[in-house]
Amino acid sequence: MILCTDVKGLRKLVKDTGKKGKTIGLVPTMGALHEGHISLITACSRENDLTIVSIFVNPVQFGPNEDFDQYPRDLSGDCQKAEAAGADIIFTPDAGSLYPGKDMTWVETTGDIVKVLCGRTRPIHFRGVTTIIAKLFNITMPDKAYFGQKDAQQVEVIRKMVNDLFFDVELHIMPIVREQDGLAKSSRNIYLNKEERQSALVLYKSLKCAQSLFLQGEKNLQTICSAVHDMIAAEPLGSIEYVEAYLLPGLIPANEEFNGRALVAVAVRFGTTRLIDNVILGE
Ligand code: PAJ
Repeated sequence: MILCTDVKGLRKLVKDTGKKGKTIGLVPTMGALHEGHISLITACSRENDLTIVSIFVNPVQFGPNEDFDQYPRDLSGDCQKAEAAGADIIFTPDAGSLYPGKDMTWVETTGDIVKVLCGRTRPIHFRGVTTIIAKLFNITMPDKAYFGQKDAQQVEVIRKMVNDLFFDVELHIMPIVREQDGLAKSSRNIYLNKEERQSALVLYKSLKCAQSLFLQGEKNLQTICSAVHDMIAAEPLGSIEYVEAYLLPGLIPANEEFNGRALVAVAVRFGTTRLIDNVILGE
């Protein structure tokens, strides 16, 4: 496995690979790798000749009061895990090489798709995500790129960017990997104390409840969201940021009964730790 920190060097590797007619897969991450990330890397390495994993805690997607400085970092552990999962190249640029000056070129998706759900409390977040992903796509020229359903809104926004800007890359979306008891794996789970960790199980339970209501024939998303909301609200350590549902693709509001696919998504704080989770109904 090659550890690469420099854009020029990576570009050369990528061009040489492409010239040999080999396929390139990209897994963008911010490190602190867990089984969720590993599932993406494993799929990527199975489906491509060259697997590039980027590890970069992207400063411009964090708001001023968010956890950029505290975000967990463990490069040597990450390298071992990524290599074991089949990574060929780890790309860990420093911030200065990706954002060389104060003046910036942003890649920004607009509209409700970035304003609902996490966009309400994280107004600059998705602009930071699309900007870094556009840079990574241009640097690595992947045939396929791998993202997790855990960040459902991120998936929708990136899909829109790829369509709108004609990026020639196939998006592969992998299912949410969970702990045995159902908590979605997240780099931020380590911040939960024992009681909060136990309380946080309500997220999975409430989304399971959404799924069973739907399977029993409930097609009204407001009714489903109310049930999810009530379950989480009954958990004293959880503080709800949102419980919302939208039609897929594109996060379209649905006022009446829906057909097709819908996303039910939640964001809840346990102490200072903000967790997100979701389920897709109608898959
Ligand atoms: P990060 O939070 O490190 O996540 C990297 C990728 O792993 C994302 O596509 C995310 O959805 C996926 N992932 C995280 N937890 C998962 C889980 N439990 N199951 C399945 N997939 C999971 O998301 C980001 O980084 C950044 O915003 C990034 C896209 C790298 C841009 O900076």
